[in-house]
Order: sequence, then C-alpha cells, then structure tokens
Amino acid sequence: MKKYTTLSDIENLSDIIQKAIQLKENPFQFKALGTNKTLVMLFFNSSLRTRLSTEKAAKNLGMDVMILNVHDSWNLEFEDGANMNLSTSEHIKEAAQVISQYADIIAVRAFPSLTNKEKDESEYVLNSFVKYATVPIVSMESATAHPLQALADAITIEELRTKQRPKVVLSWAPHPKVLPQAVANSFVEMMQNLDVDLTITHPEGYELSDDTIKNSLINYNQEGALKEADFVYVKNWSRYRDYGKILSQDLNWMMTTEKLGDAKFMHCLPVRRNVVVEDAVLDSDQSVVIEQANNRTFSAQIVLKQILENLDR
Ligand code: CP
Repeated sequence: MKKYTTLSDIENLSDIIQKAIQLKENPFQFKALGTNKTLVMLFFNSSLRTRLSTEKAAKNLGMDVMILNVHDSWNLEFEDGANMNLSTSEHIKEAAQVISQYADIIAVRAFPSLTNKEKDESEYVLNSFVKYATVPIVSMESATAHPLQALADAITIEELRTKQRPKVVLSWAPHPKVLPQAVANSFVEMMQNLDVDLTITHPEGYELSDDTIKNSLINYNQEGALKEADFVYVKNWSRYRDYGKILSQDLNWMMTTEKLGDAKFMHCLPVRRNVVVEDAVLDSDQSVVIEQANNRTFSAQIVLKQILENLDR
C-alpha cells in the first residue's frame, strides 16, 4: 500500500480484513518492522479513538509516534499563490516538506467546514499533504471520508456475522450538532464492496451524494428498513444537498431495543445517549461498539504495516 486516504487504496479487501483479524492474535509479531520509523499524527480536529488506536497500532509495530495538534502550531495557508498578509503564517508547501523530514508516515485528521461543499469536496487539507509531503499519507478522517473507521467496521462485521450474506442497515439518527457525512460515506462504500445486503434509511432530505449511494437501496421507512436486519449501524449526518443543514431532529429516529430486534448495534462513537440511541441498546449484549473501537487499532495497524512494507521496496 502506498498511502491510505481512500478505500480505493486497499489492494485486496478480503485479504486485508483477514490479515487484520490475524494481527489480533499476536499484535507484536511485526515489532521489528517499525523500528527507527516515525509516525507523525496531525490533528486539525478532536479525537479520542483515532488518536489512541492509531498511536497504539504504530507502537505495536515498533514505530515512534509524534503528535501535533495543528491549532497549537502556526496557522497554515493552503491556497496556491496566496498573499499571506492576513492570518496565515506558514504555507502547506513548506510545512508538509518540513514534517516529512521528521516522519516516515504522516497521518492527518481534518474535518469539513460544512459551509462550502466545493471546498470540502476538494479535500484541500488532505490532498495538500498528499501533494507536498514526501512520505505516505494516512487519513484519520477527512472532509468526506473515514476509511480507517470503515475498515474497522468491516473487520467487526466479518468477525460477528453468522450468515454468508448478512443484512446491514445504515440508519440515520437525530443529533443536536451539524455533523459530517464522512463516516456514513465510507461505511456505505465499504458495504458496497462486501458480500452484504445493504439498506440505507433516513428521513427524506438526508440523501447522501449520488457518488456515495450508487445503486444502494434507500428506504425512508425506518421500521420497514430494519426488518430482519443482522447489523444496524446508526449515525447522524447533516444534509448533503442543502449542504450542512439540519432538517430534522426527530427523536422518533432514535434507535431503541424494540426497533433493533435481534440485530447487532453498531456506532463509530462518540455517541449521544438517549438522543442517537437509548441507554438500553448501548447497555445490552447486542451493542458491539466497544469491539468496533477495539478494531480501530487493528485497522490502523494493518494499514501502517502494509505502508511500512512498501517503504522498503
Ligand atoms: N470514531 C472515531 O473516529 O472516534 P474519534 O473521533 O474519537 O477519533
């Protein structure tokens, strides 16, 4: 693997899922691979799981890790040809090359503005690092995608499925804040590439982009969509078409034990209890959110491992 900024960087999906599951049996078996190699993690936004699981993954591989909360550093300029006489102090052209001298791999978390669709879809932060850094880039969630989360979700479904082709439902949930579409986009893309029966359910107006939906089934009736589901992935996202807007905070879309039936409950976390999902679901044996979060380590570790192996070629 040369980089990991989109799911299309995965060369063989079923192979990487199986290899991640094998890593769990002995996480330290490739500790020599990362010796004298450094992962620099750059955070433009907050994180709990991504930060800790990716650091743990790197350390399992013997890597050194350096973390920079970018807002503690100089204000970066991303526009080519900018006259930098206002608030930005350092151009990404220098910053990315400088950081590359300290790093063997750079991981970046940069959320969308959710006010400028075109700019967000250009992925200008992530893609500027891809363009100007001289080492491989890993996305730790960008404006439109969260590929490390989607790989962890695929690992979780592979471990827990009891039938060849499980029914997986992505169910929109209410939320008081304006949230990105990134997790939903990557989850849908991942499910389209697995042997699962995917249904997406949300209130009318919350359609994801056509590029994401492709031929996936949308059912605006949540109850109907959830029938005979094996896995229910619950997530809020703001509107794509009326970009970044909230249309509904209808608590009738909150996940409950009654709606969940016998399905496993999935969520990327963090999750707002009794808004997105009721306590009884999260506190039940059907919730697999803790297993999902554990799999973040092995999703990051298999990605870093495959990039490290490619460095030496
Ligand atoms: N799921 C996830 O990416 O969690 P964090 O935002 O805490 O990293």
